[in-house]
Parts: sequence; structure tokens; C-alpha cells
Amino acid sequence: MPFIIAIDGPAASGKGTIARALADHYGFHHLDTGLLYRATGAKGGDPIEAARNLTPDDLQRSDLRSADAGQAASRIAAIPEVRAALVDFQHRFAAQDPGAILDGRDIGTVICPDAPVKLYVVASNEVRAQRRADELGADPAEMLAQLHERDRRDRERDTAPLRPADDALIIDTSNISIDEAIAAAIAIVERARA
Ligand code: CDP
Ligand code: CDP
Repeated sequence: MPFIIAIDGPAASGKGTIARALADHYGFHHLDTGLLYRATGAKGGDPIEAARNLTPDDLQRSDLRSADAGQAASRIAAIPEVRAALVDFQHRFAAQDPGAILDGRDIGTVICPDAPVKLYVVASNEVRAQRRADELGADPAEMLAQLHERDRRDRERDTAPLRPADDALIIDTSNISIDEAIAAAIAIVERARA
């Protein structure tokens, strides 16, 4: 049985950074599931059809990391049929040996509820807005407003809302370095594997 690590949390909390580091450390496959929603939104047209027809090429588009693509993703991510169309791909990805790490919003709650390791990564709103502003060369106040809007939409939707699974362990990256966050995650995985 492949080992699955589920990582969820709000925007710019540090999920992807931890997921990539764990994938390197353990030689596991890594899927940033946010890209599926970003690519679906970027395709335009009917989002349900876009999700059903998503191809690996769609995930290679260069404009997927923009703040606009993030906003568009969170709008189409509230549509149940869009989410349903993306489930099989995520399940197949999670079934790869020797293990897989998926990061997103609903991995521990909906996609991989039996994962032996579930992390929920958080950071203060101000820290997250500053990180996104640094990454995108944007205004921190504007990033803060956008993160608020996106987090609210992700938390309040009816289907697969953003929330920690009951058995998720929380990592707060507000006041720790990236190396410390990675070390905390590895310590949690080591305990689960022992
Ligand atoms: O995947 P997610 O949107 O949750 O966040 P990320 O892309 O991993 O991290 C967002 C930004 O915060 C990146 O520029 C990271 O380098 C930075 N970061 C940080 O400064 N401290 C951490 N403990 C984790 C991430
Ligand atoms: O990197 P960041 O955390 O800013 O965003 P992302 O992980 O790329 O996700 C973009 C949007 O896709 C989120 O705001 C969610 O609305 C949606 N999403 C989701 O609904 N479920 C997932 N498993 C991953 C992303």
C-alpha cells in the first residue's frame, strides 16, 4: 500500500513548500491539487466541461500562479460537478508507489480521508499576505483583501469546504522558518511510520 500524506490549509500558508520538501525527503510523488482548479478556471467556457476535459498540458500553462487565476479557481471550485470531475485523477495519483503527497483544501477530509498523515498548515493573515506580495511583486494590502475573499469562499462553500480533518495535526508557520516547518512535518511523518 502506498503511503499517503494529505496536506491542507488556506492560501500561502506554506503547504506547497512543505509538500515539495517531504516529496524530496521520502522520494514520494507530489501533486499540488490547486493547479487542477486553477487550470480548470483558466480554460474558460463551461467549467464543468473544462474539468471533465482537463489534460496534463493544461497544467503546464504559465499564467496559473497569478492572483487572478487563484480567484477564478476558488469560484469554479465551489461547483460540485467540477470537484467530482477531478476526483478520479487525484485518487489515481494517490495510489502510486512508494507514496504520494497531495496538497490542497479537501485532501484529508474528502479525497484521502484514510491517509495515515494529515497536516493542516496555517499562518496569520498578515504573514500570508506579505508572502504572496513578495512572490507576485504585488501590494500586501491588496493581497490581504484577496486572501480574505478567497479563504471565505473556500470555507463557506457547501461542497468540500476548507477545514482541518478531525485527525489532522496543525503546523503554524507564522513565526518559524521554512526549515523549521519542514523539520516539524518530517517529525510527524516519522512518528506515523514508526
Ligand atoms: O502552497 P501554499 O500556497 O500554502 O504556500 P507556499 O507556496 O508553500 O508558500 C508561500 C510563500 O511563503 C512561499 O514564497 C514560501 O517560500 C513562503 N514560506 C515562508 O516564508 N515560510 C514558510 N514556513 C513557508 C513558506
Ligand atoms: O497556492 P494557493 O494556496 O494560493 O492556492 P491553490 O492551492 O492553488 O488553490 C487555488 C484555489 O483552488 C483555492 O482557493 C480553492 O478554491 C481551490 N482548491 C480547492 O477547492 N480544493 C483543492 N484541493 C485545492 C484548491
